[in-house]
Amino acid sequence: MRAADLLVRNATLPDGRAGIDVLVLGGRIADVGMALQPLDGVPVHDAQGWLLAPPFVDAHFHMDATLSYGLPRVNASGTLLEGIALWGELKPHLTQEALVARALDYCDWAVARGLLAIRSHVDVCDDRLLAVEALLHVKQRVKPYLDLQLVAFPQDGVLRAPHAMANLERALDLGVDVVGGIPHFERTMEQGAESVRLLCELAARRGLPVDMHCDESDDPLSRHIETLAFHTQRLGLQGRVTGSHLTSMHSMDNYYASKLIPLIGEAGVHVVANPLINITLQGRHDTYPRRRGMTRVPELMAAGVNVAFGHDCVMDPWYSLGSADMLEVASMGLHVAQMTSQAGMRSCFDAVTVNAACVLGLDSYGLEPGCRGDFVLLQARSPVEAIRLRAQRLLVVRAGVVLATAAPSVSVVRLPGREGAIDFTRPQAAP
Ligand code: FE2
Repeated sequence: MRAADLLVRNATLPDGRAGIDVLVLGGRIADVGMALQPLDGVPVHDAQGWLLAPPFVDAHFHMDATLSYGLPRVNASGTLLEGIALWGELKPHLTQEALVARALDYCDWAVARGLLAIRSHVDVCDDRLLAVEALLHVKQRVKPYLDLQLVAFPQDGVLRAPHAMANLERALDLGVDVVGGIPHFERTMEQGAESVRLLCELAARRGLPVDMHCDESDDPLSRHIETLAFHTQRLGLQGRVTGSHLTSMHSMDNYYASKLIPLIGEAGVHVVANPLINITLQGRHDTYPRRRGMTRVPELMAAGVNVAFGHDCVMDPWYSLGSADMLEVASMGLHVAQMTSQAGMRSCFDAVTVNAACVLGLDSYGLEPGCRGDFVLLQARSPVEAIRLRAQRLLVVRAGVVLATAAPSVSVVRLPGREGAIDFTRPQAAP
């Protein structure tokens, strides 16, 4: 009798192929095709034509702050800067037990939502490195079911805050995976540029990836992404560097943006936009018209830059909502960037799946034979429909093991002459 693994029958794939079977053996996808032969002892799951996608990936998150909403108080102004100040008030009261408990709760939410890989920044400006130790512990705890990648993030500025560079290096020594930064929060533009240089050189020396919060402001003259692209190229870090947020690009002069975008592309810098947070935090100093503040997603994608979306925050000092639902993130990205064509909407699904996996450098991600047997079955017929309906996650699988299930969502109406279950799906429009 063969132990476990899984044959999924009659699924629709994100590329539109229907009636597809996917066989997982030994934790890996062994075969993908029509009418695969069942094997003795391998359980069969009938997908009933629903969409089978690789799992969601969150390219930018803050797991040390998540689910702390209201502690010690709520962000009254709703601004980024009050959020940072509020986080500073909370930090001295953090305990490792509470950090671990909240992070594990969030990982449960993530699994239930089919979100199986997260890159989380972790603040290294607390000399105790409590959050670093807590999240390294969580990373090991969740390893059997969720890939958690950690970024050493100097929230208060690696040059501006005392001991921040030493703490950041200590965090890397402890096993944090990625070098972070926040150049726009340093004291001057020059100090910001210097922080980018130092952190890129540190990453090059240690052979680590870089992911910086970069130009997260409405300042049209913020230039740190230009500096990040420059040092990426200078140090030969192409493909290993990510610029997160880049919201100032929204406000930049169009001529300058037309020079900058090809430079980002040449340097092979990944870009992560955080639509829910960008639309919430940016433009707060505007009267009307009020800027949207998200970076130039369609233009970057058109230039060949790998663009992913992150959730960034869930119920923390910066954002009071969220539930680990990357389809909500994709939907907000689609709306804010006005990516309403079929191709545009499809790109927004990619931004929370394959593009984000590329940012994290996940090998063996996907639905091809040889990839790890990870996927989510969505109650929708296509990626666009999944976004439109925030589709129910019917089945979540990691390495052939079922991690989570949900009953199909059913609404019933009782109207005169029109009684019965509602079908929210619709035939798909031609691309
Ligand atoms: Fe962030």
